Amino acid sequence: MKIFEWSPIEYVSMISRDREIEYNFASGSPDPSLIPVKEFEKIFQEVIEEYGYRAFLYPGAGGSSELVRNIEKYYLDKIGVSLRSDEEIVIVSGAQHGIKILSQILVEKGDIVIVENPTFWEGVYPIRFHGASLRGVSIDEEGLDTYYLEKILREGLKPRFIYLNPTCHNPTGYVMSIDRRRHLLEIAERYDLYVVEDDPYRPVSKDPPPSLKSMDRSGRVIYIGSMSKIFAPGLRIGFVITNKDLAEKIKILEQHDFSTSTFLQLAMSKALEKNITEALMKRCSEHYDMKRKILLEALERYFPERYTRPVCGFFNLIYVDKDPEIYVEKAIERRLLYVPATRFFVENPVYSIRIGIGLISSEKIFDGIKVLREIFEK
Ligand SMILES: Cc1ncc(COP(=O)(O)O)c(C=O)c1O
Repeated sequence: MKIFEWSPIEYVSMISRDREIEYNFASGSPDPSLIPVKEFEKIFQEVIEEYGYRAFLYPGAGGSSELVRNIEKYYLDKIGVSLRSDEEIVIVSGAQHGIKILSQILVEKGDIVIVENPTFWEGVYPIRFHGASLRGVSIDEEGLDTYYLEKILREGLKPRFIYLNPTCHNPTGYVMSIDRRRHLLEIAERYDLYVVEDDPYRPVSKDPPPSLKSMDRSGRVIYIGSMSKIFAPGLRIGFVITNKDLAEKIKILEQHDFSTSTFLQLAMSKALEKNITEALMKRCSEHYDMKRKILLEALERYFPERYTRPVCGFFNLIYVDKDPEIYVEKAIERRLLYVPATRFFVENPVYSIRIGIGLISSEKIFDGIKVLREIFEK
């Protein structure tokens, strides 16, 4: 049975659309001050001059060859992701589109898919939608509990694949340790499993550990990259790296939706050529580190010992003792928006709030957490 359900993220964004929000902790968008608007103004012009009408024709399935080439040439080594000779890059309309298409290809009704518990609700929704049931494996400061994973596999669980966001995890902010990464890959090898590595925060985090993709010796890791956090989510550009067989299937399914805009792919390709990426990566990681420092001070003051300590990315969780879904409206009245994260737990749900520091300005973070505390105190 297909499940039609609003995500907690989309839901709070919808109900607050015409309301004045001063403290937006709900959005997954990057900080507006970091979006390279001026650079894109110039790049858009250059795309029109260089490609003319061709920039406005239909895109081909799999993405523009210019963009594929430039991701390989100018981007992958900067983020520490490798491409094997038997693999390909396929352009998708953001990481979310990548997850959706992979779910269409990999999931059969009744399959079990392993995910982190808690997990990124929207990321796993397409997996559920295509008929899989999710099995959660808990996550701590070192990432996915690979020992528990090994145990359930040893006991006979046969998952179709493992989906995870090991670096700057949404929603906890944790980063998987190198030992656990190695262990996960060993397990995937032993039990012959695909690992889907969803990795949108790598380019905006300082010195992240190696990607699973770069540690993978047998082509089991399907890598999903995104330009949303480093450049802009409205561009809707992401990419998948996988073996040629799966890559072809992704392209075939892109015939269903024609993938992403030709013009924006060419603009992204030009942006990569221009060598602005490295400076942008540095600016972003420093800026989010600064915001996270403010957040941590506020959390320590107002929610001591009731939060996950984020290492990088945009998110972390605050644990509360009341149902956070009920307090969303009260929070909006105080001009504050958060995402109730209880449903991010696929097993053993815990009352929790997802805090995002992407969009909110650094000046508002401390006061916002104070307001949140007042809302939950009452
Ligand atoms: C873990 C994770 N995966 C995927 C996405 C979606 O990214 P995109 O904008 O590239 O579709 C997000 C956005 O918040 C995310 O946090």
